[in-house]
Amino acid sequence: MKKVYIETYGCQMNVNDSEVILSILQNDGYSLTENIEEADVILANTCSIRDNAEQRIWGRIDQFKIQKRNRDGVVIGIVGCMAERLKNELLKSVDLVAGPDSYRNLPALLAAIRPDSPQMDVLLSHEETYADITPVRLDKNGVSAFISIMRGCNNVCSYCVVPYTRGAERSRDPYTIVNEAQDLFSRGYKEVTLLGQNVDSYNWKDKEDPQKNVNFAALLRMVAQISPELRVRFSTSHPKDISDEVIYTMAEYENICKHIHLPVQSGSSIMLEKMRRKYNREWYLERVEKIRSVIPDCGLTTDVIAGFCGETDQDHQDTLTLMEKVVFDSAFMFAYSERPGTLASRKYPDDIPYEKKTERLNEIISLQGRMSLKSNEKEIGKVLKVLVEGPSKKNPQELCGRASSNKMCVFPSRGEKAGDYCLVKVESVTSATLICSRVD
Ligand code: SAH
Ligand code: SF4
Ligand code: F3S
Repeated sequence: MKKVYIETYGCQMNVNDSEVILSILQNDGYSLTENIEEADVILANTCSIRDNAEQRIWGRIDQFKIQKRNRDGVVIGIVGCMAERLKNELLKSVDLVAGPDSYRNLPALLAAIRPDSPQMDVLLSHEETYADITPVRLDKNGVSAFISIMRGCNNVCSYCVVPYTRGAERSRDPYTIVNEAQDLFSRGYKEVTLLGQNVDSYNWKDKEDPQKNVNFAALLRMVAQISPELRVRFSTSHPKDISDEVIYTMAEYENICKHIHLPVQSGSSIMLEKMRRKYNREWYLERVEKIRSVIPDCGLTTDVIAGFCGETDQDHQDTLTLMEKVVFDSAFMFAYSERPGTLASRKYPDDIPYEKKTERLNEIISLQGRMSLKSNEKEIGKVLKVLVEGPSKKNPQELCGRASSNKMCVFPSRGEKAGDYCLVKVESVTSATLICSRVD
């Protein structure tokens, strides 16, 4: 049996794609190894979102080549977004280059590789959703799993490379999504996260009967109805598209987790316009208000980009004041990285000096630290239902797990295992964790 080793970079969708890849390769007789030294095939499932993500992969390729020198016949493959973006440029360095829509073709590509004949497939598809493939789960604890509900992206945010690496948006057949969630639940999983670049634009069109079309709110209901014991999460929501129907659907089902990842990117309407996000500061704040009026305890997290093209001190201040106004639970924060081929790279000079970008990013990060603490302090005294993930990393006598809001809780163990639900009371907090006692 041939052995495959897979490293995964980038977003949750890539994690799920690696599970799809493993399923395809297992069907072709490969087995997974976690030891690169014994791998016949070394795959890196890659990310292109920022330049440093790609630089990391180039470094890894050099390391993979050591394996190749040490042992005959080892194959190095680059798959995912960087494969799609760089195509031939990568083919000079590795044996296999496969884009996100060509994973079904991996067995054939691998079989065709010869020392002087590397293989590449970077065709993008308008239909591929891997709907019929049961991912082989790579998570360690068997409690929480990802389900991709769509692929690609049709929003051409000016800074973003994803529409080029993942192609056009397409929604997956909802019945295959429900079957996958049901199957996971019957195998003991307690939480599924529905994944898409913009889940709010999920839209399955029934070929015969438009009455049977399924939008994201309808899909959420279908998955939530599988069992009240199965938690449902989703990511990512887009501020321009998140609908009242989705917000009310979340409120209606206890098992739809009360957490929305709603990337704002900037608090300045001028920057948002240049970013082509198709909403402005006021629209974003209105959506937050709506969410909080319907779901008062809703967890809210975001992404922020510092130092986008032409960003003034005032634009930067607008981001800080928005963050102070909203008080996000947590945020992913990045310095703008120009990506070749994007609209921004063609239209706007990347004109904020590195030092300035870093300075602004650091200000954003330190403000968010204070906001995370503030947001957690509001939880003190509350009783929360937590899904146990396992022993706490710091103290094995304690357990850790997430509340519905996605906040991490630690609490004394009474012998529960991963996948059990516990009721806990928040006693004190740090900016990252809720420290809880037991109430059940
Ligand atoms: N589909 C999601 C985001 C996917 S990419 C959405 O629309 O929100 C994840 C995050 O990476 C983005 O939210 C953005 O904050 C960041 N990002 C994307 N392109 C970037 C770039 N060129 N430079 C810096 N950060 C970027
Ligand atoms: Fe990129 Fe925008 Fe699509 Fe998100 S919505 S993946 S930021 S183009
Ligand atoms: Fe990266 Fe591709 Fe995801 S660029 S963030 S792995 S969609």
